[in-house]
Amino acid sequence: MTWHVAIKQSKLKPGKKKMRTVAKKMVLIGQNDDYYFATEALCRHMRWPLAYGAKVKDDCIRCPLHQTTHKIDTGELVEWSPFPLLPAYGKLVGKLSKQKDLKIYETRVKDGNIEIKID
Ligand code: FES
Repeated sequence: MTWHVAIKQSKLKPGKKKMRTVAKKMVLIGQNDDYYFATEALCRHMRWPLAYGAKVKDDCIRCPLHQTTHKIDTGELVEWSPFPLLPAYGKLVGKLSKQKDLKIYETRVKDGNIEIKID
């Protein structure tokens, strides 16, 4: 595991997220309240870029497309594709891919940069 510079700290504002390619991996980097986080960039359900509309709330990240939700600190799956809410259709959309946890990267601040740890 190696630390890689992902973005200058000054480029990331509270509540904002950015998608970046770091060590050939697409990652989402964000700041929420008093901490930074980094996840894989695309939703595990149908690969929607989480930088476009994902919300971080109650220490979870929720994809805007079908509302799949993961814990922001561990990536553990909380809810898989509950939207649309009409039961039969929602279940069908949910079955379009296998349920998976979200990859989470460790972050740190060094020399004014946000770095993430990648294998
Ligand atoms: S693509 Fe994210 S929940 Fe479906």
